[in-house]
Amino acid sequence: MARILVPGGAGFIGSHTVLALSEAGHDIIVYDDLSNGHADSVLAGTFIEGSILDSAKLDVLFKEQAIDAVIHFAAFIEAGESVKSPMTFYKNNVAGSLTLLQAMAKHNVRNIVFSSTAAVYGQRDDLDLLSEEITKQPINPYGHSKWMVECMLRDMATTGAINAIALRYFNAAGSDPEGRIGERHEPETHLIPLILDAARGKRPNIKIFGTDYATPDGTCIRDYIHVVDLARAHVRAVELLLERPSKTGSYDAMNLGTSQGYSVREVIDAAKQVTGIDFEVIEEGRRPGDPGKLVADASKVAADLNWQAERSDLRTLLEDTWAFRRNLD
Ligand SMILES: NC(=O)c1ccc[n+]([C@@H]2O[C@H](COP(=O)([O-])OP(=O)(O)OC[C@H]3O[C@@H](n4cnc5c(N)ncnc54)[C@H](O)[C@@H]3O)[C@@H](O)[C@H]2O)c1
Repeated sequence: MARILVPGGAGFIGSHTVLALSEAGHDIIVYDDLSNGHADSVLAGTFIEGSILDSAKLDVLFKEQAIDAVIHFAAFIEAGESVKSPMTFYKNNVAGSLTLLQAMAKHNVRNIVFSSTAAVYGQRDDLDLLSEEITKQPINPYGHSKWMVECMLRDMATTGAINAIALRYFNAAGSDPEGRIGERHEPETHLIPLILDAARGKRPNIKIFGTDYATPDGTCIRDYIHVVDLARAHVRAVELLLERPSKTGSYDAMNLGTSQGYSVREVIDAAKQVTGIDFEVIEEGRRPGDPGKLVADASKVAADLNWQAERSDLRTLLEDTWAFRRNLD
């Protein structure tokens, strides 16, 4: 058993990871400023309200608790917002991560798993699958902020100060299969919850942005990964750091996806089947900055973490999300 600090653990992916960590027998401290999270999503461990920008509070926390590792989810996540307010994103995501890393260094906490993103790759419609080594060319401040933190982790690892794994998620989706927690972003911008909101009458329709992409049905293709699969990967990653600590520092980055993509139209059609509801679909033009295709080469994580997605097929993703979302206000 390890004591794990989870900044951002009251958010969507963090709260599911907290459950998985608890089921694996770990002791958890969730640290979240509730800027976008929900205290009632924290179903295990101890909850402390606070910001990763608050160095004094982090200092007390690390002093009082014998933390073995950090799984760092805390960030602003909405790419469109980041274009409008870049400084807000750089402050929270980059300066916040730096403050957290400084506190870790001060208290000699060496292990960190970091939430990174496929957004570090930018727009690569020329590639079928995105592998970890390709050039990083984020196209918005959100993607830049995540890549900057990865660079900090890599450079700190080079000095021997930390052992870090950056997990680059593709499109996180799904819900706890027992329906206890799920995605509650406000405003919601992710496709699957938006589609299901159209199905339950919370939105008048669902819009498809772009039907002329170079994909089989002309709509964008994404690699959806179930949040429970994501959560299991975090448990594996942190346990790997704890079991095989490097004394000289280590940094690794892994895609978390399935190597399989679904088009927007496929997701909509499957959602109509799962819910049994026919809702209105409106076709619009492309949105600037939307890549036609984003699918992971997920071979590295399979080999390094001995991990495979188990619930990320489209039907299971939709069924689990629907079970949670149909009961939301
Ligand atoms: N959802 C996705 O599809 C996706 C894809 C790739 C990467 N990610 C990354 O995964 C992580 C979690 O994403 P999510 O979907 O669960 O988002 P989320 O908004 O639900 O969770 C983020 C949590 O961090 C907290 N937070 C934000 N700033 C903070 C701060 N300064 N101090 C303390 N807590 C703070 C929020 O209150 C929230 O609870 C993020 O880092 C995000 O960039 C998400």
